[in-house]
Amino acid sequence: MVDNIVEIASILVLLLIASYVGTLVLGNLRLARAATGGVEAERKLLDVRVAGLVQQQLLERERVESKWNGFRKFEVWKKIEEGGGICSFYLRPHDKKKLPPFHPGQYLTFRLQLPNDKQATTIRCYSLSDSANQEFYRVSIKRNPPPRDAAKANLAASVSNFFHDQINFGAILDVKAPAGGFWLDLTHHTPIVLIGGGVGVTPVLSMLNAVAASHSTREVWFFYGVRNKAEHIMREHFAMMEREYPNFHINICYSEPTKDCVAGVDYQHAERVSVELFKKVLPSNNYHFYLCGPPPMMTSLYEDLTAWGVPEEAVHFEAFGPATIKKVAAQQAAPATTEAGAAISVTFATSGKVVPWDGKVASLLELAESNGVSIASGCRAGNCGTCVTAIKSGDVRYIREPGEKPEAGSCLTCISVPKVDLVLNA
Ligand SMILES: Cc1cc2nc3c(=O)[nH]c(=O)nc-3n(C[C@H](O)[C@H](O)[C@H](O)COP(=O)(O)OP(=O)(O)OC[C@H]3O[C@@H](n4cnc5c(N)ncnc54)[C@H](O)[C@@H]3O)c2cc1C
Ligand code: FES
Repeated sequence: MVDNIVEIASILVLLLIASYVGTLVLGNLRLARAATGGVEAERKLLDVRVAGLVQQQLLERERVESKWNGFRKFEVWKKIEEGGGICSFYLRPHDKKKLPPFHPGQYLTFRLQLPNDKQATTIRCYSLSDSANQEFYRVSIKRNPPPRDAAKANLAASVSNFFHDQINFGAILDVKAPAGGFWLDLTHHTPIVLIGGGVGVTPVLSMLNAVAASHSTREVWFFYGVRNKAEHIMREHFAMMEREYPNFHINICYSEPTKDCVAGVDYQHAERVSVELFKKVLPSNNYHFYLCGPPPMMTSLYEDLTAWGVPEEAVHFEAFGPATIKKVAAQQAAPATTEAGAAISVTFATSGKVVPWDGKVASLLELAESNGVSIASGCRAGNCGTCVTAIKSGDVRYIREPGEKPEAGSCLTCISVPKVDLVLNA
């Protein structure tokens, strides 16, 4: 009873806030009426925005209230082959309790017990590929190809192959709550450009679907880069988005179209996604850009966007593997010396490597990887705990707040940098 009263009271407060915001927006719209067109159109736009604001506030409250700690059991409710080596998994909480909404662009962290490795669990992250939905979470996973170096091949250790081959309807999985800082704020209405390369389309697809579900009239440009039709997933879905949403501009780019690819039907551009293409297609550079794709694509897009005059804060990105974008290094790396001006060295004790810290890589994890030292990683964002490494001596600084603090005497290498000479157990 008391819960119901509190619930009704808080919805009333939200509606009051919404009507206040509505009054303010309506005032501004009226001032702009002469320039922007009829009152009726303004009123409709306002209705949509106010409804969207209320919806987002309710979702945010639900997101915070129903978030869980640690791992929760989910069951696979549906498994769909998307083509191009990508398979979508629809997940429902095993306890049948409420499914928290999430920010579009965030990912899930999975803890898996691979059949050949009964001793340890393996962590991997997969972006949510649909908008928040009361029924299910969806992830879309690409089957990893064999490594170029045949000596490194170990199919039994590949989680993506495990998902494709062994995770089916009814399988139970351990899943952490949605996390990650690469997400689209649905309370804003600024025009955006969403860019996905290959399987990197997943987080930006979630953003696209979320804008559609929120009934926002926000201007959205969507660029999806693949080699050809064989890799192009969810073709009908993207075609429907283009047809049904006048504010969406879907651009499919094939870098190597084959004979069976029909220009204007399957794809719009026979070229890679690039800033040269944006210059031809976009009305201006005045957008927020959200990109996720293979490292070379992200690096060149980031550099070319900033060279085109797009401010750094308007370029948002996520990497599925080691990020090479210079921005990360420039913004987050620690100075190459201690506060007292002394050079810093990092010793990877188990690997027997001593490496100078020159401040050019983003984290200790990247320093390890670029020097052939293997440290397991999952989210690469301080949330999953996979990269935790014991500190034998020295101290680190975190470049962002860890999702979960590691035990004293260890550090999350994906988000830390050395403060002084450091010896790591790696
Ligand atoms: C935030 C975030 C979001 C992500 N979102 C997505 C997403 O939406 N979709 C997606 O597909 N991925 C996504 N990823 C990438 C994903 O987490 C894994 O990195 C990816 O699936 C590869 O994992 P893997 O275990 O198959 O292979 P790896 O981690 O590359 O390899 C593990 C081991 O298996 C071996 N191996 C791998 N493949 C083979 C093979 N075919 N044959 C023989 N040996 C092999 C390797 O040599 C290695 O020893 C995301 C990553 C991050 C950090
Ligand atoms: S890789 Fe997930 S916390 Fe470092």
